[in-house]
Amino acid sequence: MDISQYKNVTLLNHPLLTHKISILRDENTPVAQFRQIVKEIAVMEGYEALRDIKSKMVTIKTPIEETVQPMVSGKGLCFVPILRAGMGMVDGMTELIPTALVGHIGLYRDEVTHEPHEYYCKLPGNLENKEIYVLDPMLATGGSANGAIQLLKAHGAKHLHFICIIAAPEGVKAFCEKYPDIPLYIGALDRQLNERAYICPGLGDAGDRIFGTLKG
Ligand code: PRP
Ligand code: URA
Repeated sequence: MDISQYKNVTLLNHPLLTHKISILRDENTPVAQFRQIVKEIAVMEGYEALRDIKSKMVTIKTPIEETVQPMVSGKGLCFVPILRAGMGMVDGMTELIPTALVGHIGLYRDEVTHEPHEYYCKLPGNLENKEIYVLDPMLATGGSANGAIQLLKAHGAKHLHFICIIAAPEGVKAFCEKYPDIPLYIGALDRQLNERAYICPGLGDAGDRIFGTLKG
């Protein structure tokens, strides 16, 4: 896929990020390390995705003199993980902006149709005035991402961003065709989906790997 055709997509091509994603891909990576690395990746991706957030000029006094300098306020920011797997990215994001609000959207994919089903939604008020960063490690068919954005828009959200760790070309296409104006941040772009709509090579089921619910 030629990703440059989608102007809203940023593929975060940093060797440290790619290294960490490779650790996630390894089926032998234990749950505790997997969780820790997802958090570290969220910090790295968040750092990039938050590049355009607003600062306010505030007066501070250095040991030398008074000066007016920019400072970020988390007030207008809201992080929204898609449950379950998106939860793994929240701590990394709030490490960057501890005062940001956090909303939650619960979606699960039907194993046969791969369609997302909503089972939970709790969001802060005044969404229309907030910069919203939706978090989910995996963008596979794009059904969950598009479903979450649709839900947020229905609640009044206007300023949206989406951060994922691994994306499939199918998911990028589905997202960008529906939401060409919403910035999409990707850690790695993989080859394709398999017949069960899992990303190849991917990392398997992100929720199961973060929470240790793998069968067998
Ligand atoms: C995973 C993942 C995304 C979704 C991506 O969640 O965290 O939300 O699949 O797939 P899609 O792009 O085809 O919609 P899942 O439905 O497995 O739920 P879980 O996080 O609770 O395991
Ligand atoms: N959801 C996951 O957790 N992994 C995939 O590969 C696809 C959807």
